[in-house]
Amino acid sequence: MSWKRTHHCGTISKELVGQTVTLNGWVNRRRDLGGLIFIDLRDRSGLVQIVCSPETLTADQYRRAEKLRQEFVLSVTGIVQPRPEGQTNPELASGEVEVQVQSLQILAESKTPPFHIDRVEDVDDSLLLKYRYLNLRQKHLQDAIITRHRIVHFVRNFLDSRGFLEIETPMLTKSTPEGARDYVVPSRIHTGKFYALPQSPQLFKQLLMIAGFERYYQIARCFRDEDLRADRQPEFTQIDVEMSFVDADDIMQIMEEMIVNLTETITGKRIKTPIPRISYQEAMLRYGSDRPDTRFGLEIVEVTDAVAESEFKVFAATVAGGGVVRGINAKGCGAKFSRREIDELVKMATDFGAKGLVWFNIDETIKSPVAKFLSESEIQAICDKLGAEQGDLLLLVADAPAAAAEVLGRLRLHLGSKLELIDPDRFDFLWVVDWPLFEYNEEEGRYTAAHHPFTAPHDDDVAILTTDQQNVRAKAYDLVLNGVELGGGSVRISNKDLQMKMFKALGFTPEEAHDKFGFFLEAFEYGAPPHGGIAFGLDRLVMLLTGSSSIRDVIAFPKTTSALDLMVNAPSEISEQQLKELKLNFKTH
Ligand code: AMO
Ligand code: AMP
Repeated sequence: MSWKRTHHCGTISKELVGQTVTLNGWVNRRRDLGGLIFIDLRDRSGLVQIVCSPETLTADQYRRAEKLRQEFVLSVTGIVQPRPEGQTNPELASGEVEVQVQSLQILAESKTPPFHIDRVEDVDDSLLLKYRYLNLRQKHLQDAIITRHRIVHFVRNFLDSRGFLEIETPMLTKSTPEGARDYVVPSRIHTGKFYALPQSPQLFKQLLMIAGFERYYQIARCFRDEDLRADRQPEFTQIDVEMSFVDADDIMQIMEEMIVNLTETITGKRIKTPIPRISYQEAMLRYGSDRPDTRFGLEIVEVTDAVAESEFKVFAATVAGGGVVRGINAKGCGAKFSRREIDELVKMATDFGAKGLVWFNIDETIKSPVAKFLSESEIQAICDKLGAEQGDLLLLVADAPAAAAEVLGRLRLHLGSKLELIDPDRFDFLWVVDWPLFEYNEEEGRYTAAHHPFTAPHDDDVAILTTDQQNVRAKAYDLVLNGVELGGGSVRISNKDLQMKMFKALGFTPEEAHDKFGFFLEAFEYGAPPHGGIAFGLDRLVMLLTGSSSIRDVIAFPKTTSALDLMVNAPSEISEQQLKELKLNFKTH
């Protein structure tokens, strides 16, 4: 008899009662009950219960059934029957039926796995990653990978329907500046020379616009050697897009349509459109972050004017020095928090880099360690600005604008989750626009590109490009979802003189610019259309749409936070022979 399946396990239902089916799959669980052997058989579609009874199997076949262990691979043929009264399992799609086995073949045996597929709570992460192919048998990981496929499929269909062409770009290439370190690959043929793996296809997609393809996309692998965390991997995937003859609004509009339709299709939820837009400045002011989580309030409020002339030196001196005083009203927390909890907030703020945290507990009399330094009218003004009511807790920070934003932004996120204000079922998208073109790099003592050096400045700011860097705005936009940076892009510079000016503003000499980007600058001399684009982090998108807590859960073979692949054991040493061919020598100190 053939071992090939007629049905998938998860599709066996009442409608099939009485029919003979052949199933293929893995033993998820086995139980012996008074001579009957019950197996939960698992394939990609789900589970079904199969029953091996000495009455319906030959002695030989029954002995085979007794041998079955977890993760054996089987082919079984049997009759679908209703489960006896009281034994149905409402949690299983096939829970009303079972398959009475008539013949059984073991297609592969399995050693006892290092952990039970479904019970991994206490299993060490490194063991799960070493046996990733076993971990991937777990339902929620399979579901995430399947959803990832559906998302990519949707994106490809959408972009194809809008005239985008999928075009591959090189992996072995030259450094592209996205701000991280490069992964490099030594060349055997050209001793001492290296390829760099792309941090993104940025230069190539722009060259494709110059080549005349007009609408490009790629599900692109990118490589960045940077500090990793829950939403960062050393290699990751972008939905990378570039368009010609468009402005920023055209790009945002079509991408918004794609992301909103995608989210609605995958989650079944309605997304309100248009997606709100906020300027970078306002995001920093109100949320203390360039990727605000707008699922909850607790917005930051400026109170600088109210305390500029204060007797309280911390406030007055900060304002006199060009700083700001800003605060958050932690609604109801004055009444709710113990003194210890308030002290913990102060400690947390200083850990976030604050010089201190002033608090006001709004009770019959207002309690605050600094009340005696402030006049009644100042306290009243602070209360008014923050909308204080009985029972509230006001938290104030005085510092340089960026530092105050950072501390209050992080405090806001902490309070949002501590007070359980974040609805995990919400999908709050937000465009952050009007970014600065440059950011000041304290370590290097110079301006660097806030996005990358190919981003166009606002038309009004071209005149101050090399003279007043901190006030140049960019034609750049980021899409944020629930406080996560999902994607970012810009209108590009498409003219050689402006690109040279940009390199100059970034501190490159003309020689350095030509040495690094000569091929690119030259291309601008042969008719570069106005163009722009965006890239979304596919892994982050899948993480958020599947409700996963880490991008690791939505990547089939992810790396650890120290960039190790524990399954294949990479990176690893290479042979003497390979080193010799590459003419590489290592110093061991
Ligand atoms: P950017 O550097 O902002 O832009 O990257 C685009 C998006 O990629 C995702 N992302 C990451 N995801 C996982 N792990 C990482 N290490 C990682 N780094 C970035 C983020 C991010 O928003 N070439 C430009 C795009 C353009 O201008 O068109 C670029 O790469 O979700
Ligand atoms: P000090 O003058 O350092 O004793 O601080 C007096 C109070 O002001 C303490 O409650 C500090 O936490 C607070 N404080 C000090 N510096 C700042 C600041 N930059 N922003 C907010 N609060 C501060």
